[in-house]
Amino acid sequence: MPAVRMLQHVVGQLLLGPGCGCRTSALPARSLGASPWQIPANANFHSASFSETDQPRVLITGGLGQLGVGLANFLRKRFGKDNVILSDIRKPPDHIFQSGPCIYSDILDYKNLREIVVNNGITWLFHYSALLSAVGEANVSLAKAVNITGLHNVLDVAVEHGLRLFVPSTIGAFGPTSPQDPTPDLCVQRPRTIYGVSKVHAELMGEYYHYRYGLDFRCLRYPGIISADSQPGGGTTDYAVQIFHDAVKNGKFECNLKPSTRLPMMYIDDCLRATLEVMEAPAESLSMRTYNINAMSFTPEELAQEVHKHIPEFQITYNVDSARQAIADGWPVSLDDSNARKDWKWKHDFDLPELVTTMLNFHGSDTRIAQAN
Ligand SMILES: NC(=O)c1ccc[n+]([C@@H]2O[C@H](COP(=O)([O-])OP(=O)(O)OC[C@H]3O[C@@H](n4cnc5c(N)ncnc54)[C@H](O)[C@@H]3O)[C@@H](O)[C@H]2O)c1
Repeated sequence: MPAVRMLQHVVGQLLLGPGCGCRTSALPARSLGASPWQIPANANFHSASFSETDQPRVLITGGLGQLGVGLANFLRKRFGKDNVILSDIRKPPDHIFQSGPCIYSDILDYKNLREIVVNNGITWLFHYSALLSAVGEANVSLAKAVNITGLHNVLDVAVEHGLRLFVPSTIGAFGPTSPQDPTPDLCVQRPRTIYGVSKVHAELMGEYYHYRYGLDFRCLRYPGIISADSQPGGGTTDYAVQIFHDAVKNGKFECNLKPSTRLPMMYIDDCLRATLEVMEAPAESLSMRTYNINAMSFTPEELAQEVHKHIPEFQITYNVDSARQAIADGWPVSLDDSNARKDWKWKHDFDLPELVTTMLNFHGSDTRIAQAN
């Protein structure tokens, strides 16, 4: 390389480097400096002959929340029980502890995270730890730590060890100044919650690490996710999970959003399948690294009407929580996911009627339906 170009290259690297610009490494500051592929010959966890055709070794952070246990079950069916490690700071219930590897990991403890990745030969990381929208607003400093500092730890570990990294984003990464119906992949993102701000930060940092360090970062903006066998973790769309529990148990439900609040939603099976599909998609098929995915949009009133078809005595009342309503009012009504549908053939299976039937069947409403008929 001619001297002038070499100098330009070095200056360019310095200017591109984050922080003080006092290092020229191609890897982030906490990196060991070695290539992630320079694995010691005596490493017993991961042979140097590892290739892309081998099964991934998966770590899920924040795995005991609404989505993580379902993801672990789903991935274990594909990759084998012992290839998927669930981690969290909470103590797992017995049935989860016995269903496969489940360990303690605080994402704020960088060394511990690195140790887990190294000792277990992790190759794919699903970063689910987070404080969601409503609980984040109630504890901003903890949300900053978990959602932002935690993400930094995960990004550094991932780039250091050559991991494929999945980070879920959310409809909450958009705000009142974003186009709302439908919201495209690329548009103004000025969220007004710490949750949303931290997720925009995650999208941008992940993409930056992808272009700067070659990190294989993949991200989906999930709508509100509806699951039958796990409790929601404090988000604005929680009502759409709780309504089924209460409808079956008590025949009534008090909703904390206005009847006309239309938000994008998705059944968990579609969400988990999308997550695996984007992780398995060939890199060359991905024209972007952060995609919207969409399935259905409905209001509390429309959801209640659909529940009513199965449980005629079901009643919904409204006691609006102003904090959650303000968050919901700034969120998209629907997402434009045409890029995901084009690039990696994303397609949802569940619309509102199938969702309601599936959820009520799970909650054992058969008796009620029979009685009603
Ligand atoms: N559930 C949804 O509807 C939805 C929608 C959009 C995006 N997402 C995203 O999907 C991911 C999973 O969501 P969820 O609903 O399962 O969340 P959740 O709140 O139910 O679970 C989050 C988990 O993170 C764990 N956690 C908190 N602090 C931690 C720490 N310091 N170290 C390790 N773990 C910690 C918690 O113990 C909890 O089990 C999150 O990133 C969330 O932002 C969820």
